[in-house]
Amino acid sequence: MATQSIAHDPALEGTGQGQAPFGFPVSLTEKYRPRRIADFAGLGKQRKILSKFAANPYPSAWLFLGASGTGKTTMALALAAEIGAEVHHIPSQECNVQNLADVIRMCWYVPQGGGFHLVLVDEADQMSNAAQLALLSKMDSTAFPPMTIFVFTCNATDRLEARFLSRCRKLEFSTYGLGPEITRLLKQVWNEEAPDAEAPNFARIVKDSANNARDALTKLELALMEA
Ligand SMILES: Nc1ncnc2c1ncn2[C@@H]1O[C@H](COP(=O)(O)OP(=O)(O)OP(=O)(O)O)[C@@H](O)[C@H]1O
Ligand SMILES: [Mg+2]
Repeated sequence: MATQSIAHDPALEGTGQGQAPFGFPVSLTEKYRPRRIADFAGLGKQRKILSKFAANPYPSAWLFLGASGTGKTTMALALAAEIGAEVHHIPSQECNVQNLADVIRMCWYVPQGGGFHLVLVDEADQMSNAAQLALLSKMDSTAFPPMTIFVFTCNATDRLEARFLSRCRKLEFSTYGLGPEITRLLKQVWNEEAPDAEAPNFARIVKDSANNARDALTKLELALMEA
């Protein structure tokens, strides 16, 4: 099976940042990966919309669009955790007609824990035209799998069909204004990891990373090793 069902992944449980129940070393991006919608740095509008949606979810398709490292994939997982949905993660290279058909067939069954299925397709703009066409028909009301939420993530929409886009609720993940929030996050991580070491210039790290939280945390990881 090409998909990954990670609903019971212990990494999805727990609530706050820095509380990952790992007994082995992990990268900072993994350790401080936001588990709940409310835990994300910035993204106020997205958090507000998705918290409302999570409180009262319904079958629907979403497109999380925006720059790399702004939390699109992580937000989809946090949404699934909040709803208690069973996650079917389709890696972009494997988003073909056959795998989609297999996953969507599963979505017609009630998930193990009841509730919702969440189908997560990363880098959705890389999927084939045939896969997009297959999805179009599934995303019409008569064929929409019950209790299923689709989340597609992508950096750009130019390779996506207008008809596909019009079936999705688009949420833009912008880096605009994220700087101070990510700076605060880096500071918090540093204080937790190396409270006694001389701190680097967090704002500079964020600026050099163009507000990409993944890049900023990775740079901080190196700075920690240097400290
Ligand atoms: N808004 C945020 N708040 C806190 N941490 C974040 C945020 N955005 C990203 N991160 C951190 O960066 C990591 C990578 O985020 P994620 O994979 O969700 O980005 P993405 O938008 O899907 O990127 P890509 O477009 O490259 O797939 C997360 O594990 C998390 O540690
Ligand atoms: Mg992603």
